[in-house]
Amino acid sequence: MAIEIRPRAAELDLSLARWRADTPGCAHRNHLNNAGAALMPKPVIDAIEDHINLEGEIGGYEAENARQEAIAAAYDGIGAIVAAPARNMAIVANATAGFVQSLSAFDLTSGDGIITSRCDYTSYQITFLSLAKRLGVEIRHAPDLPEGGIDPGAVRDMLRQRRARLVHVSWVPTNSGLVQDVAAVGAVCEEAGVPYVVDACQAVGQLGIDVARLRCDYLSVTARKFLRGPRGIGFMYASDRALARGDHPLFVDMRGARWVDVDRYQLVDNAQRFEDWEFPWALVLGLGAAARYARDVGIERGGERAASLAATLRRELAAIDGVRVLDRGREQCAIVTIDVRGWDASDLVAELAKRRINTSASLRWHGLIDFAEKGTAAALRISPHYYNMEAEIEAVVAALRELVDHRRARGRD
Ligand SMILES: Cc1ncc(COP(=O)(O)O)c(C=O)c1O
Repeated sequence: MAIEIRPRAAELDLSLARWRADTPGCAHRNHLNNAGAALMPKPVIDAIEDHINLEGEIGGYEAENARQEAIAAAYDGIGAIVAAPARNMAIVANATAGFVQSLSAFDLTSGDGIITSRCDYTSYQITFLSLAKRLGVEIRHAPDLPEGGIDPGAVRDMLRQRRARLVHVSWVPTNSGLVQDVAAVGAVCEEAGVPYVVDACQAVGQLGIDVARLRCDYLSVTARKFLRGPRGIGFMYASDRALARGDHPLFVDMRGARWVDVDRYQLVDNAQRFEDWEFPWALVLGLGAAARYARDVGIERGGERAASLAATLRRELAAIDGVRVLDRGREQCAIVTIDVRGWDASDLVAELAKRRINTSASLRWHGLIDFAEKGTAAALRISPHYYNMEAEIEAVVAALRELVDHRRARGRD
């Protein structure tokens, strides 16, 4: 049965009405999968389409030349998102590409230690294992605080006992609403003089980012999630400290360096040394438009509204018999994860999709350590954003209540 979504008059304040009018997808779906990929607003879609059309009309390289000003503005815009100048910004294909580029700058060798959290992103845990297998790097998971999330004091102790080559933390994991205290870990790393790499993929667009406060050497993000940009593009920050060290990716190309002599290359002096030569410029301009849109909305304002919708959702869902809210941590964000008794998370996603409600499933192997500790096989992930209405939150709660009741009734048959 489809659930009708009727906006309450009170919530149709001007901003919400404008955000929704700017977002064509709102007319079709109750989109609660912003941690997967948010609905793009019209200015983002327009920026991409306009550039593709221009490429078709005048040629790819010629279109790139024609849009130099807008491209420069995109770099300024993404810099403003993390409070850094354009010279520290590199555009990459996705957050993972940014992570890989930064890690490849370290020339890791056997015995080098990497300290990371128990909730770091799936792909990065796999990469760490690969580094251990291929290079003999030692991966150490820092313990959590009792309430969840990496314990900065424990990281300090670990660094005192044995130096590490770098510390890596996912600010917000993929599989829960936890917000890890990345600023506190940054202070510990700075004190110990150990490079610090932050994954801000799920944080960008919902949490304010100030790289100076985080004291990180590197940070990477993707465009498509809470920043509401297109798929297939992201960006990274490389600090002045990293640039001054001469850090550069192992597989640096002709974007990042000039071939100045037969046996010599010279790095470009800014973070573009981490970029690839070939770019989807339409997506770069879409990313620039997303950064501009996010700043117009106000990241704190949007993030607070998204977190408050998530808090309502947690409260309402916790009241349903058979639903267990899995999110932990002192601070929580706009990602809600639940375990529903008798239901497989992927089946729930499919049932909700029939009602035009978009959610996603986090499988056990996505957060192997975390889910084992929580004693769950998988989670339904529901991630609202500021452009969602309270009525849409009510709709997903009602749909889940109905599904739980239905199964319970069938169990009694
Ligand atoms: C916490 C976290 N980090 C990193 C990534 C990787 O982002 P991308 O798929 O853009 O490489 C994701 C993707 O879902 C994520 O959730």
